[in-house]
Amino acid sequence: QANERESMYLVSEYAQKYFTETLWETEPGKAIGLTYFKERGFTDSTIKKFNLGYGLDEWDAFTNAALEKGYQLEFLEKTGLTIVKDQTGRESRKFDRFKGRVLFPIHSMSGRVLGFGGRILTSDKKAAKYLNSPESDIYHKSKVLYGIYYAKQAIAKEDNCFLVEGYTDVIQLHQRGVENVVASSGTALTPEQIRLINRLTKNITVLFDGDAAGLRASLRGIDLILEQGMNVKVCTFPEGEDPDSFAKSNTYEDLVLYLEENAKDFIQFKTSLLAEEAANDPIKRADTVRDIVNSISKIPDQIKKEIYIQECAKIMQISEEVLYNTLAQIDKKGA
Ligand code: CTP
Ligand code: MN
Ligand code: MN
Ligand code: MN
Ligand code: MN
Repeated sequence: QANERESMYLVSEYAQKYFTETLWETEPGKAIGLTYFKERGFTDSTIKKFNLGYGLDEWDAFTNAALEKGYQLEFLEKTGLTIVKDQTGRESRKFDRFKGRVLFPIHSMSGRVLGFGGRILTSDKKAAKYLNSPESDIYHKSKVLYGIYYAKQAIAKEDNCFLVEGYTDVIQLHQRGVENVVASSGTALTPEQIRLINRLTKNITVLFDGDAAGLRASLRGIDLILEQGMNVKVCTFPEGEDPDSFAKSNTYEDLVLYLEENAKDFIQFKTSLLAEEAANDPIKRADTVRDIVNSISKIPDQIKKEIYIQECAKIMQISEEVLYNTLAQIDKKGA
């Protein structure tokens, strides 16, 4: 088992090298891939630092190169880099998973290559924008944070971690000089992902894309961060912007200032947001209170709990006594 995983790491490492060489040294790589990254505002050194790559738009260019180098088909298939299609009565056919896409290698905390995210270059609405490596013995999506290898020192030093949605958000913030940043890669946050950060700092600032759609759905996931005793702030961006686009169009100073001025305590943010939405509707206000107290119940620290109850009482104009009773009910149910 350990040997198998090691073989999968080695073939993934080879793939990273192959795809970066394709980006820098082939005509399509330069004309399509490199041009794309440069148009997004990434510098040469950023592209190199993150080992960004390009997969040729051919059926099996990578697979053949890997087999020629002596890598075994078994591990190419297990990492998902090669897709094998059986054909009755004939030899099975092998296809590269990542074709005609720019590639973002995904690394472990210690820098091993676990998998890839591949972005499509056309605006073909039918194809998925990102294609990712499948789950495998070395790549467990729910246990990985994109960028953690590049961010870990800065997270410890700054004693704070910015959490963003996407690959390009991580890269653009780095390039602007904000290096304590990782991405959940568009999926709901998991306890394992939070534990990775928890080892480095107790402070998380969640940066939301300014498209509002994902915001409400993400609020619940943040309770998992509170549960681990961490301090959470949240920051939103102007409509239509994400951390990538915002960092690209602002200086380091303006970016840092924006983050400082707009990062709000999570419980206060959530309470104000839901209270605003509930407006004067009594039932919605009651649901909001319950929702907030439920979040507060996740906080292990008794002092913080009490302070947040006071905050919530003020914002929602409800007595602390009722909130404490609700809290006790939730604790009893173990919800
Ligand atoms: N994602 C994915 N598959 C998709 C869409 C998104 O895996 N079909 C993940 C990617 O990790 C992506 C993240 O979710 O980086 C955030 O999605 P989104 O905000 O839509 O993409 P951006 O990262 O902003 O990418 P871009 O700027 O290139 O559009
Ligand atoms: Mn496993
Ligand atoms: Mn988004
Ligand atoms: Mn985005
Ligand atoms: Mn984006």
